[in-house]
Amino acid sequence: MIEVKDLTRYYGEKRAIHNVSFEVKKGEVLGLLGPNAAGKTTTMKILTCFMPPTSGSATVADYSIWEQPMEIKKLIGYLPENPPLYNDLKVLEYLDFAAKIKGIPSDKRKSAISTAVEKSALGSVQNQVVGSLSKGFKQRVGLGQALLDEPPILILDEPTVGLDPRQIIEIRELIKNLGGEHTIILSTHILPEVEMTCGRVVIINEGEVVAEDTPEKLTRRLKGSERTLLEIEGDDAVAQSVFSGFGEITKVDKQSVSRNNHTHFTLETTSDIRKDLARALVDKGLGLYELRTEAYSLEEIFLHLTTKEEVA
Ligand SMILES: Nc1ncnc2c1ncn2[C@@H]1O[C@H](COP(=O)(O)OP(=O)(O)O)[C@@H](O)[C@H]1O
Ligand SMILES: [Mg+2]
Repeated sequence: MIEVKDLTRYYGEKRAIHNVSFEVKKGEVLGLLGPNAAGKTTTMKILTCFMPPTSGSATVADYSIWEQPMEIKKLIGYLPENPPLYNDLKVLEYLDFAAKIKGIPSDKRKSAISTAVEKSALGSVQNQVVGSLSKGFKQRVGLGQALLDEPPILILDEPTVGLDPRQIIEIRELIKNLGGEHTIILSTHILPEVEMTCGRVVIINEGEVVAEDTPEKLTRRLKGSERTLLEIEGDDAVAQSVFSGFGEITKVDKQSVSRNNHTHFTLETTSDIRKDLARALVDKGLGLYELRTEAYSLEEIFLHLTTKEEVA
């Protein structure tokens, strides 16, 4: 349905994306996962024919972004990062306005709007002024606008950013239900989000695709992407011998010996062994001052993945 080949885009001297390639099959929900400034929005703007790449190509339903941008625009519903909403209009008036801009003929407008209202669950606020809505409902108005005329493809740029936890759950649920019927690309910088909504993930970092996988495989690869931090009083060698009794520990880093003669360790483990580890350390007469896990930041996970990719 969508084929992206070697997209590169410069903003002046600054290279935003470099040789980005991936494919999206019909009915698939693809997650474009990457930290801030990775190039997600740039990629989406190119695919929606908002702007051309510096080089490379992409086709949407066999139409080329270079040759047939108008055809492509008709097939795509786009939720931009900051949807341009008109705060003074009521939800229905805004959707009517958006439908006119999209060139939906007047005899079809009413049913197009009511379908969009239903799909984006806007019924309860349809007569309210957009400006009075919560961030979550505003985002749904943006989604409703993207859904007008039921485009086969949806491109959603960080649809849950800025929402509260309950709104996030609702929007994710909505998006999930739109998959299958629509082919969807959504961008996010939140790892669990792709697990919940996407069938496949393309990870982009500093403008380059660094990995592509199903969320399940990705999660498996990132298992143990939590480290355990320890502060111990006593003989380092004893601590080390306790560690070697745990097959779950894949890496031990001794950090620093602070003023009070305690030792800090950072462990990489394949599962949560805090309970057994605490007992084992105390049994050996060591003083356990701290034991906690710390998740890797997204940046570290990307680093991890990038290195792994190079090794593979
Ligand atoms: N209009 C622009 N002018 C100059 N640099 C830009 C512009 N838009 C984006 N960039 C830069 O391109 C890179 C990718 O940005 P973007 O595609 O917005 O990333 P993301 O959506 O993943 O946060 C960033 O370094 C950003 O600062
Ligand atoms: Mg962005």
